Amino acid sequence: MFKLPILDYGYDSMSRSISEGVMKLHHDKHHQAYIDKLNIIVDANPILQGRDIDDLLSNIDSLPEPVRLGVRNMGGGHYNHSFFWKSISPDGGGEPSGDLAELLKTKYGSFQKFVDEFTAKSVSLFGSGWAWLLSNGDIITTLNQDTPISIGASSPLLCLDVWEHAYYLDYKNRRDEYVKSWWGIVDWESASNRYTNLHNKP
Ligand SMILES: [Fe+2]
Repeated sequence: MFKLPILDYGYDSMSRSISEGVMKLHHDKHHQAYIDKLNIIVDANPILQGRDIDDLLSNIDSLPEPVRLGVRNMGGGHYNHSFFWKSISPDGGGEPSGDLAELLKTKYGSFQKFVDEFTAKSVSLFGSGWAWLLSNGDIITTLNQDTPISIGASSPLLCLDVWEHAYYLDYKNRRDEYVKSWWGIVDWESASNRYTNLHNKP
């Protein structure tokens, strides 16, 4: 059975971008709801049992058709939100260093140009979805709860939730202000570590 990850920071620790109330609602209610619905599906389908979320989503096309959409939506919701919590930190903001900084500079010309492109894609995404930085330096968006690992994309390093539930109570319809403030809590240290670990894999 899947469980809600415990955050290693307080709900009130992101308040320069996301209020305590939205953090709590987003984690305790929205993320939990995806897990509850995923567990109902897993409970009823032995073929899904004992498998981790990466395994299920990476092999989504091989799952039985009747459960595929449910795992895609509810499993994706669990995976994406878990990744989102790891993408932010009370000590976040600033810029990456080391190899990841080099990648972004090589690919976009400067860190600021990377930020501008990620911001533009996040703000212009129609409807609900996610923006991702991948380990090849690409910026992609996914709709609803779709994930990069289900579509054979490079491993994700960082993600931003642009569903309205992530920002509406704090920013109303001003998604651009939410995205702008989010840069101040981005956990570049963990993104850099993910990038380094991927490159050091045997
Ligand atoms: Fe969300």
